[in-house]
Amino acid sequence: MSSDALSIWSRNAAYWDEFLGEGNEFQLQLIMPATDRLLAIQPGMRVLDMACGNGNYSRRMATSGASVVAFDGAAPFIERARERTAQANLQIDYHVIDATDEAAIRSLGENSFDAVVCSFAMMDFEPITPALRAVHDLLKAGGHFVFSLPHPCFNSNNTVKTAELAEVKGHLVHTYGVKVTRYRTPFQDLAAGLLHQQEPHPLYHRPLELIFKLAFEAGFIMDGFEEPSFPVGPRIKNVFTWAKRPEIPPAVVIRLRRA
Ligand SMILES: C[S@@+](CC[C@H](N)C(=O)[O-])C[C@H]1O[C@@H](n2cnc3c(N)ncnc32)[C@H](O)[C@@H]1O
Repeated sequence: MSSDALSIWSRNAAYWDEFLGEGNEFQLQLIMPATDRLLAIQPGMRVLDMACGNGNYSRRMATSGASVVAFDGAAPFIERARERTAQANLQIDYHVIDATDEAAIRSLGENSFDAVVCSFAMMDFEPITPALRAVHDLLKAGGHFVFSLPHPCFNSNNTVKTAELAEVKGHLVHTYGVKVTRYRTPFQDLAAGLLHQQEPHPLYHRPLELIFKLAFEAGFIMDGFEEPSFPVGPRIKNVFTWAKRPEIPPAVVIRLRRA
């Protein structure tokens, strides 16, 4: 991972923290519930949150009774995470670690976690194999790694949102979709993760076939998969929101298991 990317994340951290707080609509309605279902946190579980950002999902797991370790590669995110966690009167063990540094991840303790989670961050790592290999070995046998990504088929950097209006047999019909022109070949691009984010950050598009290939090579099997989408929004004016596209999932949430 280039230190440039983590410098960009460090400069964007304060804005991200203020924008997201304990979760925006996308996280609270789509990502967190699907991740909760696949992780099935039980009190006392030891869990790692990789690339935790401001720690909002780490706190959600701690509130459910898990013992949480969390890291991010950008120190300002970890400062924000620690402040918010202290304010919430929770205990979480935070670290600054680059997720492309396999040895640093392994130092958190092999065979010691019941589960590892990584929400909307692996598209920011290049390569992802060091994290997959290390996470596999951090888990106890049978432990789960649950990670979410922008859906590589529908919500990647090349995707164009479409809004069409047609007259069909005397009725005006609105259709909201996406146009996809690149999928199979991995590519790097710059991304604006949030509206009005100051600096774009590097993003790595990978087709699902490649993500699963690398996960299987690291020793995982896949035993859970969700494609969450918003329910139909009756009176939403913004034609570019995902809520106008209930048939098109903007995210995948994948559960891998250490065999
Ligand atoms: C899209 S944010 C998601 C943060 C958090 N998981 C969430 O769901 O709100 C991506 C996060 O990945 C972190 N990140 C990017 N590259 C990283 C790397 N190589 N090692 C560790 N963290 C990294 C960024 O600092 C940022 O906090």
